[in-house]
Amino acid sequence: EETSDSRIYQKYRETIATLPKAIGGNASQEIYQYQGFWYYPLYLERIMLIQEHFKAQPSHIMVVSMPKCGTTWLKALTFAIATRSQFDFSLSHPLTASSPHECLPFLEAVAATACLNEANNPIALFATHMPFTSLPESFLSSACKMVYICRNPKDALTSMWHFECRLTPKGKKCFTLEEAFEHFSDGVYPYGPYWDHVLGYWKASLEWPEKLLFLKYEDLKTDTMRHVKKLAQFIGHPFSLQEEKDGLVEEVIQLCSFENLSNLDVNKFGKRHVTEKLEIENAVFFRKGVVGDWKNNLTAEMSEQLDKIIEQKLRGSGLSF
Ligand code: A3P
Repeated sequence: EETSDSRIYQKYRETIATLPKAIGGNASQEIYQYQGFWYYPLYLERIMLIQEHFKAQPSHIMVVSMPKCGTTWLKALTFAIATRSQFDFSLSHPLTASSPHECLPFLEAVAATACLNEANNPIALFATHMPFTSLPESFLSSACKMVYICRNPKDALTSMWHFECRLTPKGKKCFTLEEAFEHFSDGVYPYGPYWDHVLGYWKASLEWPEKLLFLKYEDLKTDTMRHVKKLAQFIGHPFSLQEEKDGLVEEVIQLCSFENLSNLDVNKFGKRHVTEKLEIENAVFFRKGVVGDWKNNLTAEMSEQLDKIIEQKLRGSGLSF
């Protein structure tokens, strides 16, 4: 999937070495600040390659998110909707045998292939965590579609903290929740500041509603049917009346549900190489899948502090959580 040619990343590594850095994600991981956002170096070098070489095409559909905001779910839904003429929703559907992250890859993870060895795929589905302001120019100039998902920042922080703790290698220290909270609040957080990421896409969705569909995890949870239909319409694969009558929307929802996906062997026991250097268990992408779990994790004080920050950062934008 990824070429082993590390020479292509050498010049980016040299640039990254000159950037401001901090400890982030887990207690032994360095993150670097680039164009106003914080990144793991492994992904940043890929993002730089994408910025320089990736050409978005009109047929491309991009799932965009801040980590831990429902990417896995949105990938599954987008894949199931966009490929439904190729696969029926039986046991042989790709989503029953492969992780949603394999079915719909991260552009960052397949950067070298996507940039330097462009395959002519008529429907190319990709995902990215890149902030709006750092996207290559072709994302806007081509007719590709972007679907962004975000989530109540308190749940995003809670989910991220659990995720990072599960990924922290044995013998390395994971942040305490207090530390993770401080970093998140300061914006020194992978792909953060959270509010800047979300606001970038929120404003873009207001300016270019044809190009960018802005979704919230909470809305997708409460009214899945409506949002799945909207998603299908937006990405150019609307459900026909006959399909609706035949219960296809329900089938997509069922296939991509937390209960279904998290209980599949591939997502319980499977592993996947994100890059050559990083292998992770598919199960880490499925934890609780509910709204409001922050209440079982954050203190009342943390919640109040975050309310203040969120209110101040989002004021006047028309966006709230
Ligand atoms: P929790 O940690 O709150 O449970 P991402 O996919 O962006 O990494 O986000 C992961 C979060 O989405 C986790 O949240 C995970 O449990 C939840 N999730 C994963 N698959 C889901 C699905 N099919 N439906 C709803 N939530 C899902």
